[in-house]
Amino acid sequence: MSTPETVPVDPAFAARARLDADGAARLRERAARDPDGVWRELAGRLEWMRAPTEIRDVSFDRDDFRIRWYADGELNASVSCLDRHLDARGDRTALIVEPDDPAGEAQRISYRELHARVCRLGNALRNLGVRRGDRVTIYLPMTADAVVAMLACARIGAVHSVVFGGFAPQSIADRIADCRSKLVITADEGCRGGRRVPLKANVDAALKLAGTNSVETVLVVRHTGAGIDMQMPRDRWMHAVVDGQPDVCEPERMNAEDPLFILYTSGSTGKPKGVLHTTGGYLAWAAWTHEQVFDLREDDVYWCTADVGWITGHSYVVYGPLANGATQVVFEGVPNYPDVSRFWNVVDRHRVTIFYTAPTAIRALMREGEAPVKRASRASLRVLGSVGEPINPEAWRWYYEVVGDSRCPIVDTWWQTETGGILISPLPGAGPLKPGSATKPLPGIRAALVDAEGRAVEGEGEGNLVLLDSWPGQMRTVYGDHARFIETYFSTYPGMYFTGDGARRDADGDYWITGRVDDVLNISGHRIGTAEVESALVAHRDVAEAAVVGYPHDIKGQGLHAYVTLKAGVEPTDALRAELVQCVRSAIGAIATPDRIQWAPGLPKTRSGKIMRRILRKIAEGAADQLGDTSTLAEPAVVETLVADARAWS
Ligand code: PRX
Repeated sequence: MSTPETVPVDPAFAARARLDADGAARLRERAARDPDGVWRELAGRLEWMRAPTEIRDVSFDRDDFRIRWYADGELNASVSCLDRHLDARGDRTALIVEPDDPAGEAQRISYRELHARVCRLGNALRNLGVRRGDRVTIYLPMTADAVVAMLACARIGAVHSVVFGGFAPQSIADRIADCRSKLVITADEGCRGGRRVPLKANVDAALKLAGTNSVETVLVVRHTGAGIDMQMPRDRWMHAVVDGQPDVCEPERMNAEDPLFILYTSGSTGKPKGVLHTTGGYLAWAAWTHEQVFDLREDDVYWCTADVGWITGHSYVVYGPLANGATQVVFEGVPNYPDVSRFWNVVDRHRVTIFYTAPTAIRALMREGEAPVKRASRASLRVLGSVGEPINPEAWRWYYEVVGDSRCPIVDTWWQTETGGILISPLPGAGPLKPGSATKPLPGIRAALVDAEGRAVEGEGEGNLVLLDSWPGQMRTVYGDHARFIETYFSTYPGMYFTGDGARRDADGDYWITGRVDDVLNISGHRIGTAEVESALVAHRDVAEAAVVGYPHDIKGQGLHAYVTLKAGVEPTDALRAELVQCVRSAIGAIATPDRIQWAPGLPKTRSGKIMRRILRKIAEGAADQLGDTSTLAEPAVVETLVADARAWS
């Protein structure tokens, strides 16, 4: 059996779907005719302390810039995610926590219990002096504690900044210092794939590096029970501070435009920036998209495999699903431990109906063949999702045919940390699917393609992906640097939000995202700035210069190719190569590990000294015959050497 180019909507699915083709068409039409009416309705799904009367106030014009949604509304995100479910569905399971160890028991946490835990921690945080607007850094494994910590911050109006558990101390330090966190929440250790991750030790190291004394308290969850250093009075055990706290905690009354969280993400220049999301618009958008894109129903068991350290974990593990009162799996482990059937065993064990993961995981599992999938029944599945990077048609088909037995629609969801929620995606009951295409912008989303000069590309064509207007989940600023926000996103094409992505639009109006057009890499669905890796490399005493580019990688989507020029007199050796790899891992984390380090006697530069990355990318891709115009090179001979040496990789 092979999947055709276009997979029509299954009529039985459409008949029960929240939005079928007609429903989606009507919504699109309404969103065009009466946008404020649609946006007002969207807000209506939240629990407001004071309902908003102002709906949107937006201008992308640099001189009159503002993005404000529901600006006179007041609410608390944790109330929408917890309190309002208590009467009707308090005993319903909110989280099914599946531990890394497959022999360990899954823990079921009801909405009532989750609410109580959030309240206890909220009270404890207040007792520790955390106030509305204070920043709290969270560096935790993928367990219920992470969800509780985020919502407890929301409860008391503190702004959380979650740092992915795979980041190294220096990255944690930078993130703590940038937002001057008052408190850090971590665990003794995490567990991933049977291995222990020294979370507390990493926080200790980070606080030494951070160069700030803003952190007053480190709260430590006892997770594995490992022996760790506790520095009194700074370090406190979580269980000790929450014990005896009341199960109720007065939620802080927040304005819709008050910050909910900061999440750091890589850009093409400089250090990662703190993407700031606010409360009302973000939550409404996360909840609405979660319900519509996954066609969420009362009896679903939803599972998103993303870590809470990424935006997918924020919007589609914590805020969206909980605002919708869903039951979901929270998974601490990895797809290949104890073996490559793990995902499908978890699907069977908890009767998962909606499954959302990244193409890189699909490609890695695809390599292992069908047998590990077929060993599990997967009969409960009904919707599959993909996120984080382009999914190649081959992986799409395997996901559809092998994992979903050709009966579950795939929603290929395009969005970004900055967008807060999904913007381009199929609605599974509303339109045909195309392997490799995220299809159409959601109702109300005004996507467009422009050429390098910002001229609109009409109809079928290719260009840079922009958004012509705002949506409630849009980021509001770069924490502490509003000028950088406007500069990064609104100056390339004045009056438009520039995504940094390129895309093609076909004759049906469907979008095919081709990937980043800036100096951001997407390695296994993780965003990494080339500049960050380069600065980790040049920090080594033997390195004179470094340039990092991406190249197509079968599993990771993109691999990381580093060209390194050594200082005069330094011998290139395998030991030095290993040292440089280690430098990057310890500056950023394992996710940024270079796949290749190529010694470069020199780098191709323009006469004004600018590195010509376009050429380096072509060489790394093994497309040295397509170097294009090299007439502006200062020293053309450099390129010939690099091309000859690069043959070793292909
Ligand atoms: O290049 C796009 C790619 O991931 C980038 C955003 O990365 P991040 O902020 O880390 O958020 C990832 C999770 C939303 C985008 O600029 N990307 C994300 N989803 C897709 C995608 N590329 C193609 N298809 C997708 N479905």
